[in-house]
Amino acid sequence: MTLLAAEGLEKRYGGVVAVRGVSFNVNAGELIGIIGANGAGKTTLFAMIAGNQRPTAGTITFDGKRIDGLRPDMVSRRGIARTFQIVRPFPSLTVLENVVVGALFGARQESSIALAEQRAMVILEDVGLASRAHQMASDLTLASRKRLEVARAIATEPQLLMLDEVLAGLTPTEVNEAVTMIRALKVRYGLTIVMVEHVLRAVMQLCERIVVLHHGEKIAEDTPTAISNDPAVISAYLGPKK
Ligand SMILES: Nc1ncnc2c1ncn2[C@@H]1O[C@H](COP(=O)(O)OP(=O)(O)OP(=O)(O)O)[C@@H](O)[C@H]1O
Ligand SMILES: [Mg+2]
Repeated sequence: MTLLAAEGLEKRYGGVVAVRGVSFNVNAGELIGIIGANGAGKTTLFAMIAGNQRPTAGTITFDGKRIDGLRPDMVSRRGIARTFQIVRPFPSLTVLENVVVGALFGARQESSIALAEQRAMVILEDVGLASRAHQMASDLTLASRKRLEVARAIATEPQLLMLDEVLAGLTPTEVNEAVTMIRALKVRYGLTIVMVEHVLRAVMQLCERIVVLHHGEKIAEDTPTAISNDPAVISAYLGPKK
C-alpha cells in the first residue's frame, strides 16, 4: 500500500531551484533512504512533506489525502514526524519534558500530562535515554541529542518518520548503535521510515530502496546494491570505487 506519494515536487527560492520535478512513493512499512551531495535538496524535500515549506509546484498525498500546503502541526496530526538536521530540543527543558511536549501535541494528543509522561518514559527507554530523563536537554552529548530528537518525533505517534541526518557526527560505534536502535524502533512502533543520510554504510545496511537527488532532481531510485553500481550515481555522488 502506498502511504506517501510525492508527484512533481518543486521548490524555488527566488532564482534557486532547490527541488525540481521530484516524484517518489513510499509504501507502508518500508524503510527508504534519500542520498545526494550537500545542497541536493534533501532537507527541502522533507520540509515540503512536513509542511515547513510550501511546494512551488507538485502534490503530496499521505494515506490517500492531499497534504501539500498544510501547516506543520496539521501534518503532524495526520501522522508524519520529522527530525531536524540541526537538532532543536528545548534546551531549558529536561529530556523527559522535551518528549512530553511531543506526546501532548502530536497525532495522539495525550489527554493528561501524567499519561504523556508515562508514554514519554517508555520512548526514552527505547532510545536508551531513560537514565537521562531528568537532565537538561542542553547537557546531552551530540549522540544523545540525536536520540532525543528521534524520541520527540516518535512521541507524536507518527505512521511515517522522516530522519534528517540523525547519524551525522557520530562515531562509528555510535552509528552501529543507532542503526540497531532504528531497526528496533521501526518494529516496535510499526513505523514507515524515510531517512536522509550521508553515512552510506548505514544507509546501505538499513534501506530497502534508495532515492538519489542531484541538484534538486531525482537521478536514480533502486535497491542499495543497484544504486552503488549505478554509473550516474557514481559520477554525481559516490565517486569511483576504491
Ligand atoms: N530557506 C532557503 N532559502 C534559500 N535557499 C535555500 C533555503 N533552503 C535551502 N536553500 C537552497 O536550496 C538548495 C537545497 O538545500 P537543502 O538544504 O535542501 O540541501 P540538502 O540536500 O539537505 O544538503 P545537505 O546535505 O548539506 O544538508 C541549496 O542550494 C540551498 O542553498
Ligand atoms: Mg540537509
